[in-house]
Amino acid sequence: MATIRDVAKLAGVSVATVSRVLNKNGYVNKETEQKVMKAIEQLHYQPNAVARGLAGKQTGTIALILPDISNPFFPEIARGVEDVAQRHGYTVILCNSDDQGHKERSYIEVLKKKYIDGIIFASNTLGEDDLEKMRRNDIPLVVLDRAPNSQRCSVVRSQNFEGAKLAVQHLLDTGCKKIAHIYGPQEFVTAKKRMAGYEESVMHFPWYTPSLMVPGHFRVDGGLQAVKELMARHPDVDGIFAGNDLMAIGALKGLHQMGIKVPHDVALIGFDGIGLTQITEPELSTVAQPIYEMGTLAAKVLIEKIETGLDEDRLYELDVTLVERDSTRRSETT
Ligand code: RIB
Repeated sequence: MATIRDVAKLAGVSVATVSRVLNKNGYVNKETEQKVMKAIEQLHYQPNAVARGLAGKQTGTIALILPDISNPFFPEIARGVEDVAQRHGYTVILCNSDDQGHKERSYIEVLKKKYIDGIIFASNTLGEDDLEKMRRNDIPLVVLDRAPNSQRCSVVRSQNFEGAKLAVQHLLDTGCKKIAHIYGPQEFVTAKKRMAGYEESVMHFPWYTPSLMVPGHFRVDGGLQAVKELMARHPDVDGIFAGNDLMAIGALKGLHQMGIKVPHDVALIGFDGIGLTQITEPELSTVAQPIYEMGTLAAKVLIEKIETGLDEDRLYELDVTLVERDSTRRSETT
């Protein structure tokens, strides 16, 4: 079936020009319009709802469905989305799904009735059938962060696997001899990739055993419980990589409660780069995701889909950065 891109190519114009001809919004000279119409006829192009009528925005609103706005990672995402949306004349409707698939699906039904222009999902409870259903309904969609493994949607995420390896390598570089991992919920692809990065980095060491990995549920209390279990299992652990900053903060508190000094006895590093890591004592090292930029990019990709009718799906994987602070700065004498 011909796409808007095929029509643009045959007519020798941009997709945005084809979209303007279809939606009769914006100036197109007569000759160009005739070339486009001829290409549409030749290709028997059937514009989908986005290219035909919904492109150029209907209601000027986009939805952002987040899993847990109590986690500081997500409000920073929302800030990036909102700043770009506002600059392009869109209002953002924020939905908090609590990582529950049924809440996300009910949001989609409500949003469809409101003729929302597009949706940004920071979730991975959606299966391929959900994405296909939205595609059939011509709802422009971008999935952010916890993207399903299928690539049948535009995805914006950061390098979780490589970031985990960066965290472990940093602990090794500081002289750690036995490194553990506090991991997030494995139904989230971000947590899964970070665990995989940890395992690939340490599984060749003679001290490695799967019992060095403990769940922390991506929460502060989960990190606190996990570190107590971990140190009971392996009192000789001297390095911990936590799969997100909230769990690292909880682990820091747990280590303190056990009288274990950070970084002297145990070096500790998190993942995300949320602001709270700068107010702990000691300040937390972390692998920082470009959180704000992930939000701005997701919004830009979605708005381009809405306004041009482009139906291509692309993967945007952004670099992460090691932020070294006192929780891993072990002096030579350690
Ligand atoms: O802290 C929340 C976590 O969930 C982050 O690491 C983010 O990547 C999301 O997956």
